[in-house]
Amino acid sequence: MDLYCVMGNPVEHSRSPWIHARFAELTGQQLDYGRRLVPLGGFEAGVEAFRKETSGIARGCNVTVPFKFDAAALSQHLTPRAALARAVNVLSFREDGIHGDNSDGVGIVNDITLHAGVAIAGGDLLLLGAGGASAGVLGPLIEAGPRRLVVANRTLEKAIALVQRHAALALQHHVALEAQALDAVAGSFDVLVNATASSLAGGEVPVAASVLKRGTLAVDMMYGPAAAGFMNWAREHGAVPRDGLGMLVEQAAEAFETWRGVRPPTAPVLAELRAIVE
Ligand code: ATR
Repeated sequence: MDLYCVMGNPVEHSRSPWIHARFAELTGQQLDYGRRLVPLGGFEAGVEAFRKETSGIARGCNVTVPFKFDAAALSQHLTPRAALARAVNVLSFREDGIHGDNSDGVGIVNDITLHAGVAIAGGDLLLLGAGGASAGVLGPLIEAGPRRLVVANRTLEKAIALVQRHAALALQHHVALEAQALDAVAGSFDVLVNATASSLAGGEVPVAASVLKRGTLAVDMMYGPAAAGFMNWAREHGAVPRDGLGMLVEQAAEAFETWRGVRPPTAPVLAELRAIVE
């Protein structure tokens, strides 16, 4: 049976094995999906061990924090969106080598447009953060065609660098792409995406509530307790809060399709997962 896993550190709370097992059941695919804790600094050895110990039936893996950059470096072939993100969360082991993709961006776009039912095209979008999580989703958010997309970060230089890297893509899609410091964001937005690690650090939401208007969709990439502070803040200010569970299921669906050639149904899996997590 074909084998897959999620590799990360920590990885014990990952929902990916459950999600992929449900996808396999619902599509009639035969596969086994586990989780592997990889020591810090040992990503390449971790991938080698997974492939060796499973005598060649490993077909790929998902990659989570903090190894997405290592996974990009290890890939012999990168999809354009993974090359732009410089981060990989899906590895496929094929005859011609290791292929790397990034499905996080399409995951959040699908969650916002399909599950939350909010259009990105033509709207104003604010992305908080300029680290790996933000880099992973910026390209597909641009491709979704907002009118204006502001990347705001505590360290302005990082937002500028990220925006510069995506300038050509933004031009191609007629998106007004800007970099701003977190404390200098002007105006209000239709969609807010929090890709900072501030909630994990137990901090306050790092932007003024004036970026929200009534009905703004405010998405945190985290879920569970890590997303609670951001979601409460959004709700208190008249926005519609949303956690990262939908993105998680959608990025998994994209990986599953890459590996298996079949698109799994996501709505029922997201509903089941929500019932388990909440
Ligand atoms: P990840 O891969 O999760 O994105 P990262 O690359 O370390 O992790 O990036 C963390 C992001 O969260 C950065 O945008 C960081 O801002 P800086 O670039 O200024 O460091 C942001 N961040 C972390 N803690 C924060 C806080 N307390 N307030 C505001 N932004 C914070």
